[in-house]
Amino acid sequence: MKRMAEIISGKVVSAAKREEIKKRVATLKAKGKDVGLAVIIVGNNSASRVYVNNKKKACEEVGIKSFEYALPEETTQDELLALIEKLNKSGAVNGILCQLPLPSHIDEQAIINAIDPAKDVDAFHPFNVGHIMIGDYTFLPCTPAGIMEMLKYYNIDVKGKKCVVIGRSNIVGKPMSMLLLKENGTVEICHSRTEKLKEETLSADILVAAVGKAYFVTADMVKDGAVVIDVGMNRNEEGKLCGDVCFDEVEKKASYITPVPGGVGPMTITMLLENTVRAVE
Ligand code: GUN
Repeated sequence: MKRMAEIISGKVVSAAKREEIKKRVATLKAKGKDVGLAVIIVGNNSASRVYVNNKKKACEEVGIKSFEYALPEETTQDELLALIEKLNKSGAVNGILCQLPLPSHIDEQAIINAIDPAKDVDAFHPFNVGHIMIGDYTFLPCTPAGIMEMLKYYNIDVKGKKCVVIGRSNIVGKPMSMLLLKENGTVEICHSRTEKLKEETLSADILVAAVGKAYFVTADMVKDGAVVIDVGMNRNEEGKLCGDVCFDEVEKKASYITPVPGGVGPMTITMLLENTVRAVE
């Protein structure tokens, strides 16, 4: 019989971390300090709506106040900038999260740049990105930070390991590479123009798939005993939530694997809560 990988459960790791965050929020409250997160969503992206609802619910569970700003699709860039300016100045708002993607008539980077770096709980502002690059930071990007927490929880050592990240986005691929590098991994970033991708992924001790394509990583791309982290949040042909990895075949080859759902997703939200509390502390 084929060996099965150990499942890295984002739910288990999240639960422990969220208990800790809840206590920190209560401690701040006892000192008269409320913790508040502003969540902005523009337009009618159904996936974004689900993410935003999950983020708000997670805030409530740990005692963080969430303020939602749901704006119509036609919102102009100036209107959104004006809202961010107001939130930057608001004493009740400690963290500002603008759910991406934004409608195409709005320049995403201009919006990110307008958020006060001290309230930038996504760690997308160039100031915070620069700190990540240096390896000294207040806010860690939520998804990569959540992945590092899971690796730590399962005692998976990154030091000296070959880490291959598929995807070079500003949200996941690039910052993920920096965090793995900080832990002394030997890091390689692959992307859509990479030649002989399979040769690269087969060399990975730790493989992070952040592609955004359902079932992209197949068992023949994975080294025996590799740790496989699936950042994908896709819908398959039946409309079911699925990752970037062919879980059923890859789990027979990997030593550890994250499922979708229940893997990286809950950790991303947990690290958002962490950053929001940290903004006050
Ligand atoms: N869209 C997809 N992931 C994220 C995220 O982590 N933060 C924000 N703001 N938007 C996203």
